[in-house]
Amino acid sequence: MKYFIGLDIGTSSTKALLISENRIIASVSKDYPVYYPEPGWSEQNPSDWLSASLSALEEVTAGIDKSQVSAISFSGQMHGLVALDKNDEVIRPAILWNDGRSEKQVEYLNNTVGRDFLLDCTGNIAFAGFTAPKVLWMFENEREKFDSISKIMLPKDYVAYMLSGSFATDVSDAAGTLYFDTGKREWSQKMLDLLHISSSMLPKVYESDECVGYLKDEIASKLGFGKVKIIIGAGDNAASAIGTGTVEDGSCNISLGTSGTVFVTCDKYVCDRVNAIHTFCSANRKYHYLACILSAASAQKWWIEDILGAEYDFADAEKFAGKTAVQFLPYLMGERSPINDSNVRGAFLGLSMNTGKAEMTLAVLEGVAFALRQNIDIIRSLGVDIKKSKVCGGGTKNKLWLKILASVLGIELEIPVLEHGGALGAAMLAAKNSLDTDEYSAMENEFYKVSETVFPDPALTEFYNKKYKQYLKIYPAVKASMQ
Ligand code: XUL
Repeated sequence: MKYFIGLDIGTSSTKALLISENRIIASVSKDYPVYYPEPGWSEQNPSDWLSASLSALEEVTAGIDKSQVSAISFSGQMHGLVALDKNDEVIRPAILWNDGRSEKQVEYLNNTVGRDFLLDCTGNIAFAGFTAPKVLWMFENEREKFDSISKIMLPKDYVAYMLSGSFATDVSDAAGTLYFDTGKREWSQKMLDLLHISSSMLPKVYESDECVGYLKDEIASKLGFGKVKIIIGAGDNAASAIGTGTVEDGSCNISLGTSGTVFVTCDKYVCDRVNAIHTFCSANRKYHYLACILSAASAQKWWIEDILGAEYDFADAEKFAGKTAVQFLPYLMGERSPINDSNVRGAFLGLSMNTGKAEMTLAVLEGVAFALRQNIDIIRSLGVDIKKSKVCGGGTKNKLWLKILASVLGIELEIPVLEHGGALGAAMLAAKNSLDTDEYSAMENEFYKVSETVFPDPALTEFYNKKYKQYLKIYPAVKASMQ
């Protein structure tokens, strides 16, 4: 029996998932801290990812014939800046995807260098989360450390490098750096020149299912493994897409987590030049759009727990479905996609003397659904036909919300049986490289099973089509009052 392992190098923990013959065998999670040394900064020690990975590998394989571990692959938090010196020592803690220190550099990139230049070179505009503004920040603020950089890499690639000695990355993670030409699937020389990066500092780029080397002998023998392939894997969103079966042109996955994401796979490279939707390479040799709304399940949590402060029966809100005109703008933390406005904030509109908490609760759920639809409509306008979507994340526990979302989007929503996200995608990428096409399809059939399908309600869809048109008018109308 052959075993495959997915290692998901997340922000709060590293998760190892062991699979074999289309079955999940075991999973282990190892936590580590995030450091916030200054307001808005967010850092981690790369050595924590490595030790978490090593102990997760050891624990997840306890009880199996370890000599049968065939391949390890990765899913990783994207965009983080890991810089090593000529002795492969980490120069400074990694600057993470949710670090906001580089606002000034983002402003320079988007407005002085210009969005058109960035879009032409990379397919994306700059966000503080992306790697390029962090590189510039280091150049401008930690010049001595910057000058000692010998290698720049992304979080999962650091672990892969330490485990295998291969200096590698994959197209999906590279696309999140803003110095990678997404359309051509290669580093962008123009961006490297602009950022003072020499190409020798960068890893070789692979497709996500490619083998980049083997587990180092000394690590393999410590773990009791034999010869184990290292498959480079993907950024967490692209790896999750492999894990949820979001793999065909037009297939969509919506995540209702703290934040909300819309992930749509597409065959052709067409970037979004107007809005803040990311265009990245996918982990299956295609492309994908990634839209991120900053408040999804967190908006529900805020409203129910912090404001109502009580247990809430959503059946009360359901009574108003298709009846209330109350609107909610879900920008509690500003917004990324599609408006990219960090100053905007949330709002209720259309309140009257007889508005009650049921209508306001419903408006919160609808507002998040409208924000997701706005992104999906933009992706559709780029020429992708989206007929249905998978949906995952904590928000899927609220069945009323799923009915609203299906009706707002006018499509069926499928809830997958398995929710192992990036770790499952990584394990499948590890398996893909070793299995033949039939074996891999059998694995997909097993892992992509759906537990429940939520259908749109035609009457609600008609109602929401009108209400959504009203919703779209709110942000342009209130924007100036919040700058
Ligand atoms: C994607 C992004 C996040 C991180 C989180 O653009 O910023 O999904 O990858 O791990």
